[in-house]
Amino acid sequence: MNDPLADVPPAVTIVEVGPRDGLQNEARTVPLEAKVRLIEDLAEAGLKVIEAGAFVSPRWVPQMADSVEVLRTIRRRPGVRYPVLVPNARGLEAALAVGVDEIAVFAAASESFSQKNINCSIAGSLERFAPVMERAKAEGVRVRGYVSCVVGCPYEGVIAPSAVAGVAGRLHAMGCYEVSLGDTVGVGTPRKVAEMVRAVAGEVPVAALAIHAHDTYGQALANVLTCLEMGIGTVDSSVAGLGGCPYAPGASGNLATEDVVYMLEGMGVATGVDLGALVATARVIGSLLDRGSRGRAHAVVSPRQSIVLEAP
Ligand code: HMG
Ligand code: MG
Repeated sequence: MNDPLADVPPAVTIVEVGPRDGLQNEARTVPLEAKVRLIEDLAEAGLKVIEAGAFVSPRWVPQMADSVEVLRTIRRRPGVRYPVLVPNARGLEAALAVGVDEIAVFAAASESFSQKNINCSIAGSLERFAPVMERAKAEGVRVRGYVSCVVGCPYEGVIAPSAVAGVAGRLHAMGCYEVSLGDTVGVGTPRKVAEMVRAVAGEVPVAALAIHAHDTYGQALANVLTCLEMGIGTVDSSVAGLGGCPYAPGASGNLATEDVVYMLEGMGVATGVDLGALVATARVIGSLLDRGSRGRAHAVVSPRQSIVLEAP
């Protein structure tokens, strides 16, 4: 029998979204020092891409209101990227002022979600991003693109793969070096995700795609593995499984970074992340939020689990 995992890349880039996608949804305000410590600890644990904040309207997402201070305060490690979310020209100017070298623009495959999340249509959002992307390019700032609701939408239900492919293709054509496919409500299952990725791959090279899974029905790892088998080499995840989206009712946390690192390292796929240090970081932020972690790889720091992890 052929190896069913033959196409999984030998190394995977993890985009840690906890300090942004995770904390944006917390009812409890997380103090600046705790955000800074979280980001610095994640870098110490080996994460090379850490989404550090969002330069969005504080009226829309109050939890990200101190992103300027966060970006000013963190010690930036050489070799680590710290992208931030930017919805418009104003957000970009604020990001440039604090020396951000990578931003992410965010669109949706669902009209209703686009309206609820950024108060404009999908076409309107792409129009809004065009000058942002031009200016970012002129400043040497890399731009990542998100497409939300790639499988389902809390307001519209099922989303057609062709709709996702259309938006992803536009973002890539506009200059996004990578497009992250967000199953924002976590309703995807492997075959649906595969159909969606196949459609998107007709518009965007697979090497320029990332998968961003939420774990609402415990499907996130299965969906990620499906994408890896299709050649995707970048996975978004959130320490301690923090997150959800303030404009996606019912969305539970993002895939926990501990869990995806456990799976990948266990398969011999390099992530560059120290699982023990990551679990310790998850514990700190989980206890600050008074609810621990949604990740399942927690016992890994116990001697028994370490043996399991290190077994051939
Ligand atoms: P709007 O109300 O249509 O625009 O919001 P506006 O221009 O009228 O601005 C409203 C207020 O925000 C004004 O202030 C502006 O000055 C201010 P006021 O006069 O009321 O005091 N404002 C800003 N302030 C700071 N930074 C800015 C900025 N822009 C305007 N950049 C807008 C439109 C896009 C601004 C708003 O809808 C917004 O900020 N939305 C962000 C929503 C958000 O961040 N959602 C979560 C991220 S998406 C997500 O989580 C999904 C993802 O993770 C993928 C997945 O999980 O699948 C990416
Ligand atoms: Mg998310």
